Amino acid sequence: MSVECVAGLQWGDEGKGKIVDVLSEKFDMVVRFAGGANAGHTVVFEGQKYILHLIPTGILHPDKTCVIANGVAFDPRVFFEEVENLHSQGFETAGRLFVSDRAHVVLPFHRQLDTLREKALAADKIGTTARGIGPCYSDKAARLGVRVGDMLEPNTLRKLLRLSVAEKNFIFSSYSSERIDEDSLLETLASLGEKLRPYVRQTRPLIAEAIAAGRGVLFEGAQGSLLDIDHGTYPYVTSSSTGLNGVGPGTGVSARKIERVTGVIKSYCTRVGDGPFPTEQPGPVGEHLQARGGEFGATTGRPRRCGWLDLVAVHHTASINDTDSIIMTKLDVLSGLEEIKVATSYEIEGKTTEEFPASLELLASAKPKYESFEGWQEDIGGARSVRDLPSAALKYLEAVEKMAGIPLVSVSVGKSREQIISLKE
Ligand code: IMP
Repeated sequence: MSVECVAGLQWGDEGKGKIVDVLSEKFDMVVRFAGGANAGHTVVFEGQKYILHLIPTGILHPDKTCVIANGVAFDPRVFFEEVENLHSQGFETAGRLFVSDRAHVVLPFHRQLDTLREKALAADKIGTTARGIGPCYSDKAARLGVRVGDMLEPNTLRKLLRLSVAEKNFIFSSYSSERIDEDSLLETLASLGEKLRPYVRQTRPLIAEAIAAGRGVLFEGAQGSLLDIDHGTYPYVTSSSTGLNGVGPGTGVSARKIERVTGVIKSYCTRVGDGPFPTEQPGPVGEHLQARGGEFGATTGRPRRCGWLDLVAVHHTASINDTDSIIMTKLDVLSGLEEIKVATSYEIEGKTTEEFPASLELLASAKPKYESFEGWQEDIGGARSVRDLPSAALKYLEAVEKMAGIPLVSVSVGKSREQIISLKE
C-alpha cells in the first residue's frame, strides 16, 4: 500500500475527479488538503453523474475513508448539501468522512466579500468562482478566521466572530453593502457546528496513523498548479498551494511520506477566469474543444477558455510537483481535428525560451512555438487498449511523453470509469 498524491498540472479542470475515482480503488483513505468548494470534481459511472465540490471523490467508493484536512477552506453549507445528496443516492458517510477541527470556515460574508471585490476590480477582476475562497484564506493569514473546531465552542466562536465581523462591517459600509447581523450569524454557526460534531476530528493523527499502519493514502489535489498561489499566474490564481506542496501544511503530514506523484493533464488546455493563456485558441479550434469537451465550469457553469496543450507550462508544473508519471485525460476530444498542436517553447522578446515566466507582461506577450501532429477522425470513446487507438493518436501520445520527459502511464477517452487505457501494460 502506498502514499500518493494526484496533482493538476494545468489551470484546473484536468479531470482529476475521474482519475482520483479510478485510482481510489487501491487506497484506503482519500484526503483533500487545499482549496474548497471552488473545485468541481466530476465522476461518471453506471450512467450516473456525480459532481463533488468539497468532499473527496473517494466517498463514491463505499469502503474508503475520506478526510477534509486542515488546509481546506471549509464551507459547512456546501458540506451538508453534498452529504444529503450522497445519502439520497445511497452512499453512507457516517464513520468514514472526517473534517479537520483546524480547517478554516468559509463564512457567508466571505462569499459576499469575494463578489464585492471582484465588482470593484471591474475589468481587472480575477474571475473567481465567488465561493469566498480568497477572503477565507485572507482571514486565515490575517488571524481573523474561524476554524471548524471553533464552531463547537460558543464562547470562542463569539470572540472570533466579534473581531472579524467588526472589520467586515467596516469594509461593507465603504461598499454600501448590507451589514452582518452578528447574533444571527453566531446562532447559525453554532447550530451548524453541533450538526457537524460527529464528523469533526484531529485529522493529522488520523492520516498519520493510517500511513504508519501501512494503509494506502491518496492526497487529492484540487485546482491546478498554474492556479497555485506561489507558482501560478499570480494574481490570476486561487489562494492555496494546489499540488504536492500543499500536502504538508494542508494536512500536517510530512510531504516526505509521499512516495509517488501522479500529474494530470488534459490533451489540450483550458482556463476559467481571467489571466494570461499563451496557447488560447479563440477561433474554430477553441470552439471544437469547448463543444466536444463540454468545457463549462462544474462549479459556476462558465464557458472555459480553450487552447492547445502547453508543454512549457507542464514542464514548470511537473517540476513543482516532482511528478513521477502523467495521466492524460480527454484524448477523445481531439477526434475530428485535421491538425493537433503542442507548444514546446515560447518566443519572448525575440528569444526562444522553455521557461515559464513569472512576469504577467512577458507571459501575455509569449508567442508559443508549436510541434504539429496529424489528427484522426475516428471516435475513440470505445477504445479500451492501445490497440484500439488510431496510429495518429499513438504518435501524438508517444511524442507528448517524449517531450514531457515523464512517463505517460494512462490516457482517458471519455467520462466513465471504464474509459481509461493503460499505456504501460
Ligand atoms: P477562486 O479560487 O474562486 O478564488 O478563483 C480564483 C481563480 O481560480 C479563478 O480564475 C477561478 O476560475 C480559478 N479556479 C478556482 N477553482 C477552480 C477549479 O476547480 N477549476 C478551474 N479553475 C478554478
